[in-house]
Amino acid sequence: MIISFGNIKGGVGKTTTTAVLAHLLTNSTYDKKILCIDFSPQGDLSSILLNTYEYTGDESHTISDVLFNDIEVDDAIQVLTDNLHLIPGDWELVNFNKNAITSYNKDYQKSLLKSVLNSVESVYDFILIDTSTDMGLILDNALIASDGVIINSKPSAFRANEHNKIC
Ligand SMILES: Nc1ncnc2c1ncn2[C@@H]1O[C@H](COP(=O)(O)OP(=O)(O)O)[C@@H](O)[C@H]1O
Ligand SMILES: [Mg+2]
Repeated sequence: MIISFGNIKGGVGKTTTTAVLAHLLTNSTYDKKILCIDFSPQGDLSSILLNTYEYTGDESHTISDVLFNDIEVDDAIQVLTDNLHLIPGDWELVNFNKNAITSYNKDYQKSLLKSVLNSVESVYDFILIDTSTDMGLILDNALIASDGVIINSKPSAFRANEHNKIC
């Protein structure tokens, strides 16, 4: 099953939830096999997981390389533990729209990630995709690749002030 964590509002806990859920699901109680995909240009999920698991392997390719630079998906997977794998994100994801439009025809631009994940989906119990606040084709790709989406939210009071008046 493929699940995205999505909300175009930032700072609501998407990345933290993705990392914690991956960590919990791969522990000995649940023993699930998880692939995390960092689909955010900031690479926060990659940082959290690489730090947490003290990954010392070779620097690998990113999801951008898989989608736009002809890198095979297996060559971009970092094995953090037997059960927890990661495809990192990188800053090049800010150019997702431009890269998708120049590299692929219109019918295919929204399903690039889905087609890549088809080949590895059966290996994992869950694939967890951390998204960013970016809209457009990058979000379309995450949602179309997913069976479901978890929408984090963070309630806060609306406060009127001098910059925020109705008359
Ligand atoms: N459940 C939570 N309780 C308190 N703080 C949280 C919680 N989840 C995330 N945070 C904190 O909120 C901030 C934003 O979280 P983050 O996961 O980066 O959000 P997003 O990915 O949606 O931008 C971080 O400093 C994180 O440590
Ligand atoms: Mg985030």
